Amino acid sequence: MVASDALDALSNAPPLYWAYYETKVYLSDSGLWLIWQQSALSDRVPLATGCPWQPLVQRLPLRAQIFRLAMRKALIAANWKCHGSLTMVDEYAAVLEHSQNAEIAVFPPAVFLARYASKAANRSDCGIQDLGVAVSGAHTGEIAGDMVRAVGGRWVIVGHSERRHDQMESDDLVAKKLNAAVNAGLRPILCIGETEQQRDAGNALAVVEHQLRVALAGINVSQIYAGAIAYEPIWAIGTGRTATPRQAQDMHVGIRAVLRSLDVDAALATRIIYGGSVNAENASALFSQADIDGALVGGASLQLDTFTRIIAAVA
Ligand code: PGA
Repeated sequence: MVASDALDALSNAPPLYWAYYETKVYLSDSGLWLIWQQSALSDRVPLATGCPWQPLVQRLPLRAQIFRLAMRKALIAANWKCHGSLTMVDEYAAVLEHSQNAEIAVFPPAVFLARYASKAANRSDCGIQDLGVAVSGAHTGEIAGDMVRAVGGRWVIVGHSERRHDQMESDDLVAKKLNAAVNAGLRPILCIGETEQQRDAGNALAVVEHQLRVALAGINVSQIYAGAIAYEPIWAIGTGRTATPRQAQDMHVGIRAVLRSLDVDAALATRIIYGGSVNAENASALFSQADIDGALVGGASLQLDTFTRIIAAVA
């Protein structure tokens, strides 16, 4: 794509981020990127949601006429957990579609994955809720990344708190699974989140930062761009207690700062989605936050009608 096409394509879309960095113009899975450089600078201009981009650039100080615009396309994911049926697979696969505003990924139980992928025929994506570390071998019950891809799965959830808790998955194991996922060419959703006790003790961000750093140490950070990070406070999962938009936004800003300390591009490009009792009523307030790039939806994804209303809440 040439720069003028990129500019045309951008003219109707609200920019989410402006930054000055280096020269690149390209389309990636997570959205349209325009990077325009006149000289090297290291900082980022403030967030400018909803501003028409040209006047904004004209207002920038001279030294900031180097900018980057990154639009992170929303990701709305349905985590069915241990629910669902063939009928449900067929219904969802027939109805759900990626849109200009959002990518859709459905995570049915693993045995339904092949059917979902074939029925959806790329109108929406699907993935697996967990992944084995090994690429093959004597590991009864495990599923390898290549097998997921072979049946049309593109995504994998890594480190969901239910697995961390119920299956006692450690941060190290989560890091290995993340590594296995990206090596298999799957797009990971890395889940991180604190317990209520940890939040009450004032440790929410420290806990999440630790989980994030350990997991990302197992891959090249750029490998997370195509996937997402899901901030899922454990106290909000399946409880009906959603984090307030402000609480979630604050944590997403903290998570993005950690990403930025590792890789500036990762901070701009990586979607940070929220999970924890998202429903059709609270979705739009959450999505209106600048750093909430979508949702990982559990309970409310089990009704097609509710899930489509959540998708529609993406601006
Ligand atoms: P919930 O689950 O929407 O039912 O809270 C979210 C999740 O566990 O991913």
